[in-house]
Amino acid sequence: MLSSSMHNASSDTLLRIYEHILDRMNEGVHVIDADGTTIVYNSKMTELESMTRQDVLHKPLAEVFQFPSGQESTLLTCLRTGNSIRNTRQTYFNDKQKEISTINNTYPIIENGKIIGAMEIANDVTKMERLIRENLLQKNGSRYTFEHIIGRSGPILDVIENAKRAARTSSSVLVVGETGAGKELFVQSIHNASLRASGPLISQNCAALPDSLIEGLLFGTARGAFTGAVERPGLFEQAEGGTLFLDEINSLSMPLQAKLLRALQEKSIRRIGDTKDRSIDVRIIAAINEDPVEAIANSHLRKDLYYRLGVVTLFLPPLRERKEDIPMLVSHFIEKYNELFQMEVRSISDEVLQFFIQHDWPGNVRELQHLIEGAMNLMIDESTIRYEHLPLHFLRRMPAASVTIEQPSPPALPFVDEGKPLKETMQEFETAYIHHVVERYNGNISRAAKELQISRQSLQYRLRKLGIKG
Ligand SMILES: Nc1ncnc2c1ncn2[C@@H]1O[C@H](COP(=O)(O)OP(=O)(O)OP(=O)(O)O)[C@@H](O)[C@H]1O
Ligand SMILES: [Mg+2]
Repeated sequence: MLSSSMHNASSDTLLRIYEHILDRMNEGVHVIDADGTTIVYNSKMTELESMTRQDVLHKPLAEVFQFPSGQESTLLTCLRTGNSIRNTRQTYFNDKQKEISTINNTYPIIENGKIIGAMEIANDVTKMERLIRENLLQKNGSRYTFEHIIGRSGPILDVIENAKRAARTSSSVLVVGETGAGKELFVQSIHNASLRASGPLISQNCAALPDSLIEGLLFGTARGAFTGAVERPGLFEQAEGGTLFLDEINSLSMPLQAKLLRALQEKSIRRIGDTKDRSIDVRIIAAINEDPVEAIANSHLRKDLYYRLGVVTLFLPPLRERKEDIPMLVSHFIEKYNELFQMEVRSISDEVLQFFIQHDWPGNVRELQHLIEGAMNLMIDESTIRYEHLPLHFLRRMPAASVTIEQPSPPALPFVDEGKPLKETMQEFETAYIHHVVERYNGNISRAAKELQISRQSLQYRLRKLGIKG
């Protein structure tokens, strides 16, 4: 749009427009040319570095800012090496000796194979850390209890029972489940049913932050651990007497997983840069959204950490494996949004129910919840959710013929259907073959796993994932 309407604008006008855009950005932008002289310096950057534009623009960067000995500006490193530098924390000083800490993404600017400059997109660390903290506090309203978990199907009742048992102890728990399957719900319920309920429940998503930040956040920092470090307890210490929930644990780097394992084994932590160990009394619950056995094979999860964490492992069944719970969940969400939207919706049509029962629910309960919420947004004085209230991409998947609840049973022997995409064919083959082998051993998982040369747990996970009854 900009290019067509601005077609005739002079390059001068265009430049000014780019400047306006840059100055509206929430990230600092700093660009240097091939000589290391600043040529772009946006408004947010002046804020982050407490500088004016005149202080910095058209001056050699190395003369304006000072870096701790042995360190070089990420911009200059990038200019020298031609490699981009991602999510790196940097602490340095401006010309008034004020200390600045930023988290940067730095990229070389290359034209015709030549490095003609480098650019940096910077975020304020202190602000970012504050945001994380605020986010934590909000999330810590650990509202859910076992009563909030809807479902009476065998698979969900089994996990609830195991989770309730786990709530009586302080053992580590590993919650395995697809997105939207209720991991957060279970973690909160366990905490709230445990003796630690009066203590804090601290949650941290390990995928949300770069390693450099998460380590300090988890273990805390001692003053002077690195330039700009303040004395601060980490989440382990903040969760004292309570529960620390580490979500998406498979995103932690291997060295950090090793450090976490040490903390679990020794029941003590050491703040970064500190010399003192501090003992901790914290229960760890971790969550993972992939099969742990696969995660280990793919180097996303350390085996030793898995053994330590998975003292209790809860496999949350995906919604497609407990479709009998759908009517109950539907009523639950209708009630919830009736109250919230001041509406009086009573039911869903039979056709919609049939469709819900046929659907695969890759987004699990969250997907169902959003669907009901979306549908109710489209209703005016109606009491039944019907087709037309469902989003188009859902309706497109609706078979033209009438839908039946029964699923066709998978063929006993593997088959190959030509002309299909590889992924689909592989999945069909996997389903059929696993089914075939499990049948052959009359549902004996251990023996079937042995034949397939995978672990029992991995087979169980696959059975769940592929929707095969063991
Ligand atoms: N059994 C259930 N009964 C009632 N509500 C549920 C159930 N399972 C999930 N939900 C609801 O579905 C939504 C998603 O659940 P939750 O946040 O616990 O999923 P998750 O497994 O942590 O997902 P993600 O991996 O995406 O973080 C929440 O609003 C939650 O309240
Ligand atoms: Mg979650």
